Amino acid sequence: MHLPNCVLMSVLLMISHGLLVHGPFGPLVAPLGSSVVLPCYVDEFLPMKDLEVEWRRTDSETLVHLYQDGKSRPEAQQQDYHDRAHFFTDQIQHGNFSLHLDNLRAEDEGRYTCTVYSQQDSGKTVITLKSADRLLVSGSDEPISVFVGEDITLNCSVDSHITPEHIEEVSWKKTDEDEDILVLLYQNNETLPDSSDERYRDRVEFFTDEIPKGNFSLRLKNVRTEDKGVYLCEVFAGGLSANATAVLEQLGFSVSHIMVLILCISASGSALLLCCLIYCRSPYKGTNNLFFFFFFFFED
Ligand SMILES: *[C@@H]1O[C@H](CO)[C@@H](O)[C@H](O)[C@H]1NC(C)=O
Ligand SMILES: *[C@@H]1O[C@H](CO)[C@@H](O)[C@H](O)[C@H]1NC(C)=O
Ligand SMILES: *[C@@H]1O[C@H](CO)[C@@H](O)[C@H](O)[C@H]1NC(C)=O
Repeated sequence: MHLPNCVLMSVLLMISHGLLVHGPFGPLVAPLGSSVVLPCYVDEFLPMKDLEVEWRRTDSETLVHLYQDGKSRPEAQQQDYHDRAHFFTDQIQHGNFSLHLDNLRAEDEGRYTCTVYSQQDSGKTVITLKSADRLLVSGSDEPISVFVGEDITLNCSVDSHITPEHIEEVSWKKTDEDEDILVLLYQNNETLPDSSDERYRDRVEFFTDEIPKGNFSLRLKNVRTEDKGVYLCEVFAGGLSANATAVLEQLGFSVSHIMVLILCISASGSALLLCCLIYCRSPYKGTNNLFFFFFFFFED
């Protein structure tokens, strides 16, 4: 670009962005479901003729609300904001173009630009909106070791301002490389035991008394070797989702299992010894005696 052009551009930009539009000093924080006012105003008097105010999402360019030709233009609004975003109509003549946003949703989080066009001038302000609610889910930090046949608890707790009635779904899944196995599902204030994969049917449950506290820990009964792996607890509430994992590793054998194993080994040992004795003492040291060996071995 040639220098004179550059200067000309800058001058034009200065002219067209000459309007000083004010917004809030910092990000706005509000709880989900509440109403919030996004401030946008000018100090100077602006003629109503040709006045245009445009509220957009900065990230997506979505049109949130528009004031044009002396009135609000709800028909231009993006669907999501219909009936939820309003101007204070009687305030517009005083240079107050604040936006009233109802029933705040998680997806409303982000940056908004309020642009004011007045005859030759225009100006804008950018507002950051954050939701006060964060969905936090905590699980079991340490991998869990367990014995086959035992019962265990996999932790999953929802920590947020969201009350349990507003928890839409909690799903426990076992995440294998090739597939996700549904272990247990909670939906619309109900546990759905029939949703469980047959591998977990009748072996899993929530602690019913703990659910109102947002504790969706899972009881897994009669642990099997193939239960080893990573379990995902995924929570959906108020348009948000969060998850926690629990790792089930080192499926050991319990003392009783080990006892049985030792007994087996010693029994086979004795059998072998017996075989040897028979073999050594036998007058017919031929291939036939192998029969005895196998007989005793498999007898065990
Ligand atoms: C704009 O109008 C709203 C609604 O009356 C009010 O809450 C807000 O304080 C006003 N803002 C300014 C800067 O006057
Ligand atoms: C959730 O409930 C289980 C079972 O009663 C308990 O072991 C666990 O500590 C609870 N978790 C929290 C965070 O309260
Ligand atoms: C679990 O949550 C993390 C963020 O905490 C996210 O990156 C990840 O995709 C989630 N996993 C699943 C399977 O939803």
